[in-house]
Amino acid sequence: MADKTSRDYVICLCRGITRGTVEDAIRENKITDLKVLCETTNAGTKCGGCREDLENLINEIAGN
Ligand code: FES
Repeated sequence: MADKTSRDYVICLCRGITRGTVEDAIRENKITDLKVLCETTNAGTKCGGCREDLENLINEIAGN
């Protein structure tokens, strides 16, 4: 199983969306807002359990 920092890591299980997909969406669309990220990628739009991870990823990339 891919670890959390891998691009292949499925960050949103409900939607089957990988960390790499989310990273690219954040960079390409310069996303700083969780709601916008959810709308753009469809991640985090079901159980919401991954939203904290998504938020962390936004902060990580925005901080770079
Ligand atoms: S794991 Fe992302 S919405 Fe459920």
